[in-house]
Amino acid sequence: MAQLVVGFTFLASGFVKVADPMGMAHKLHAYTAYWGLPVSDGFLMEVGAVVMGVAEFMLGVYVVLGARRRMATAAVAVVMAAMTVLTAWIYAVNPVPDCGCFGDALTLTHGETLAKNVVLLLAALYLATHPLRVKRMVSERNGWITSVYALVYAITLALYSLHYLPLIDFTPYAPGASIRKALEGSADADQRLANFYLADPQGGEDLSYQVAEAQGCVFLLVVPQTEVADDGCNDRINDLYDYCADHSLPFYMATASDSTGRADWCDRTGAAYPILQAEDTELQAMVRSNPGLLLLRDGVVVAKWSNNNLPEVEGLEARLQALPDKGGALWRLLAWFFLPLLLVVVADALWIGHKFYRHHIYVKQFKLKRIMRKKIVAGNWKMNKTLQEGVALAQELNEALTADKPNCDVVICTPFIHLAPVAGVINPELVGLGAENCADKVSGAYTGEVSAAMVRSTGATHVILGHSERRAYYHETPEILKEKVNLALENNLEVIFCIGEVLEEREAGKQNEVVKAQLEGSLFDLTAEQFSHIILAYEPVWAIGTGKTATAEQAEEMHAFIRQTIADKFGAEAAENVSILYGGSCKPSNAKEIFSKENVDGGLIGGAALKVADFKGIIDAWK
Ligand code: 13P
Repeated sequence: MAQLVVGFTFLASGFVKVADPMGMAHKLHAYTAYWGLPVSDGFLMEVGAVVMGVAEFMLGVYVVLGARRRMATAAVAVVMAAMTVLTAWIYAVNPVPDCGCFGDALTLTHGETLAKNVVLLLAALYLATHPLRVKRMVSERNGWITSVYALVYAITLALYSLHYLPLIDFTPYAPGASIRKALEGSADADQRLANFYLADPQGGEDLSYQVAEAQGCVFLLVVPQTEVADDGCNDRINDLYDYCADHSLPFYMATASDSTGRADWCDRTGAAYPILQAEDTELQAMVRSNPGLLLLRDGVVVAKWSNNNLPEVEGLEARLQALPDKGGALWRLLAWFFLPLLLVVVADALWIGHKFYRHHIYVKQFKLKRIMRKKIVAGNWKMNKTLQEGVALAQELNEALTADKPNCDVVICTPFIHLAPVAGVINPELVGLGAENCADKVSGAYTGEVSAAMVRSTGATHVILGHSERRAYYHETPEILKEKVNLALENNLEVIFCIGEVLEEREAGKQNEVVKAQLEGSLFDLTAEQFSHIILAYEPVWAIGTGKTATAEQAEEMHAFIRQTIADKFGAEAAENVSILYGGSCKPSNAKEIFSKENVDGGLIGGAALKVADFKGIIDAWK
């Protein structure tokens, strides 16, 4: 409620100022004149009016739309505090007839203005102290569109109105207004027009009636102050006067300047038309231009022009006959503001709704993944690093993860010789340790082999089995792997079991078949309990060490298939619990996208695991 009241009040008062900046400039000048400041009612006042109007308008937009909430509500509270003090002073001292809050659109008494400002100040203070209760109508991301649009709208409107005339005429002299009726005291006339007063500067004779009661058309050239009037349009004015003289149409000029000013004007412009005396404020209300032109017909204002668009003599005949152009500008102007804004708000809501929906789904999946299964980033050093290099690498990784805790399980799988020394330099809470292989025999005369029990005895907790390189180069068959898996599990090792198709198999569309056979061949005789110690790693062979990553979609498709295959064999719970890692040219730059997939629970990293910065970059993809 406070948001709407404060927001729309600022919007409305900013709007009337940018729609009629010259009106506001006159009101500002009334203050400077009261304080005796030597500023003329010209350029500076106009700049002040535009800045004030645009600022108020923008604050209104921010508050209504809930954009830049802290800044906007604080600014609104400061403005309201200053305005309340000012209006209290105006109420007490009565320095100006109208405070100017709403231009000429709405004139309030000083008491009403003060009461209005006190209410607004309270509402503004509430908003400033609770900025986050201001409801956001546009997302933070798209808020700039509304801000830029509102700013361009306000500035364009202000500059247009200054150059020509206000697009909406809030003055009593708007086209259609009958001065004659007002002077006759008619109840349905705008009572403000009763101030219309023109006099003969020589004798002081009141000529208001003569002008207002004249039958047909009368031109009134309005020059509030001849000293500051633009005289660049004299020729056109003089042409108009000649036309009027030729067609017996009355043409007067009205000014508030004294005899010197009037004489100066005649010298500068060669004016031959009669000049009448009028009151400055009234002239400023008649037309927002100095000079400006008014066309009356039978005492009714028919048309108004600024010095920048005075009518040409050609075509004037038709204009003389035309009906008052009452515009309809207000609703058009408001429509030009509100409709595009509404469009942005609705589009934003749809977009945000979509984003929110996606985010919601993602969070749900993420939470599910988190609850159900571990996120893991495992490194496979393969046959790289001397003992010293390996220990140093493990140490460096351990330090990096101590300084910046990972958001997932991290495992490094090293050659056999590194296991025991690396176990001595890592914190097992932060970094798990695994072998890259183990024997398919328990123990005995198998020269060169390392058993699962020996692996476990180093402190390692994991072992990679079924890697495509071992399948290809060391001819490890599903049967051999089955033995290895069993022995590893018997020795309390977690098995990272690799599966994946070669390029020809993918090109033949056989990847699912191949992967399923690999699972069946080595894991399907396990019990569900045994299977709970298996981590799967899908490594398409064509992506290993080639720089050619499977797309996130390809990975997801296969991971979903693997999970389904596990569900069919071991049940839904086992399938939900098993972590399925992706391996093959995984890098910091692509890890996030791949890991974001529903069925991807991490990565098995080769080359990038050999540099802490790269490996850490991949680990951080889970942050
Ligand atoms: P790259 O990350 O070097 O492609 O290796 C993947 C792999 O084989 C991990 O086991």
